[in-house]
Amino acid sequence: MKFIISSLILSLLVSVSCTKKSEQPDAGSSAAKTTKELIVGTDAAYAPFESENADKSISGFDIDVLKAIAEKSGLQLKFVNTPWEGLFSQLESGDRDILISAITITEERKKVMDFSDPYFEAAQLIAVPVKSKVTKMEDLKNLKIGVQTGTTGDEIASNLVGKSNPNVKRFEGTPLAIKELENGGVDAVVADNGVINNFQKNNSSAFKVVSDASFKKEYYGIGVKKGNTELLKKINDGLAAIKADGTYDKIYQSYFGEVKK
Ligand code: ARG
Repeated sequence: MKFIISSLILSLLVSVSCTKKSEQPDAGSSAAKTTKELIVGTDAAYAPFESENADKSISGFDIDVLKAIAEKSGLQLKFVNTPWEGLFSQLESGDRDILISAITITEERKKVMDFSDPYFEAAQLIAVPVKSKVTKMEDLKNLKIGVQTGTTGDEIASNLVGKSNPNVKRFEGTPLAIKELENGGVDAVVADNGVINNFQKNNSSAFKVVSDASFKKEYYGIGVKKGNTELLKKINDGLAAIKADGTYDKIYQSYFGEVKK
């Protein structure tokens, strides 16, 4: 009997302490509701827009821009390195609240996320070895083209030679495509001008850049889940504020030298 009573007391104690424990995060999250940490997804292998440092922290132009926006709009952010492939679906699933990843605003992508106002103007650019005879996109017709899967660079290469043409070499990340160019496995890499210029600047004796008249202007947008107008407004207001007070220009200058406009 004594045993039964003491084990009853014990189990009571256990259940009380369990309840307490499970209550704690609840209390925490309701308090945290006002300053909910937003999870930002970014494919942090796209310098100078986003890259991962040795200590796993993430930095770059996109990061500075979004941090400055967050400061204006009172948002709390946590940046999480997220592979490009599958990145867009993370908003719908709720695993990420915001995406910033040098994402070009396209009609296709507008179907799966809502974009902020444009925050950066870009275009494609081709990187080739200095001795290459390539002077325009057309010249890549029978060459091996390295691209990051599912990017606008992939789209342009696919449009030129056909989506299933084996000469389009698709990589999970742009650094892998560039590595292949350095190894001679591909003849060219097509990617965003900021990234190609950054790579070429650091390897100017071996590689040069080529543009093409057909390359259209692209605009980067910050992505939120479709219909999340509240968050989108905060981002757009913050973006307008950092453009108005010179913060944006300061960030731009620190990465790209001159202020564009
Ligand atoms: N701007 C291009 C696109 O939207 C490439 C972006 C790649 N971004 C990255 N972080 N890997 O398709």
